[in-house]
Amino acid sequence: MNPVPILTTERLVLRPFTLADAPGVHKLAGHFEIADTTMNMPHPYPDGAAESWIGTHQKTWELGSGLTLAITLKDSGQLIGAIGLTINKDHHRAEMGYWVAVPYWGRGFCTEAARALLDYGFTGPKLNKIYATHLARNPASGKVMQKIGMKYEGCLRQHVKKWDKFEDLAYYGTLRNEYYN
Ligand SMILES: CC(C)(COP(=O)(O)OP(=O)(O)OC[C@H]1O[C@@H](n2cnc3c(N)ncnc32)[C@H](O)[C@@H]1OP(=O)(O)O)[C@@H](O)C(=O)NCCC(=O)NCCS
Repeated sequence: MNPVPILTTERLVLRPFTLADAPGVHKLAGHFEIADTTMNMPHPYPDGAAESWIGTHQKTWELGSGLTLAITLKDSGQLIGAIGLTINKDHHRAEMGYWVAVPYWGRGFCTEAARALLDYGFTGPKLNKIYATHLARNPASGKVMQKIGMKYEGCLRQHVKKWDKFEDLAYYGTLRNEYYN
């Protein structure tokens, strides 16, 4: 089994989470602003949830069904977010998901991490398609998708129920042959 990759960019290191990250995840992912526009983030963030979540990563990697990496600052090692791919092996495609802690928003960190993970997805597991979705009311995430070159494929109307309200999802994707052209 290949080790979980570590991806280095100009300002970031994307590396596997360890249990030592759990208090940081609990604190940073616990902000309402993170839960508000993600699909599976509990809020309030329960005690023990970070440890449980981190505990799933290695198995998911070994099954080839996903990769989750901590977004950390190269200079200080500070944890600032998470990014990952949920892989569908049958279809050679993956869904990208991410969050960046509120104090670090608007500095291009998510775009930098997403670009590196997109590159890994095509060069490492050699995926055919990488896609991502965002709630229509979350344009910052759509901007990240646009900045890494994903193409808008459409709006899935009232596709999800978020906190008792049906919401539209915007869907973006990049195909392997587009990436290499
Ligand atoms: C979405 C998120 C990951 C973006 O992280 P980030 O590090 O701030 O992203 P970046 O700085 O790389 O890019 C954000 C872009 O959105 C733009 N933006 C921010 N708010 C915006 C808004 N309301 N409308 C349009 N664009 C907006 C920023 O200006 C920036 O674009 P620019 O570089 O051209 O100026 C972060 O806001 C987040 O974690 N949100 C909560 C969790 C979440 O929504 N995750 C994604 C689920 S699909």
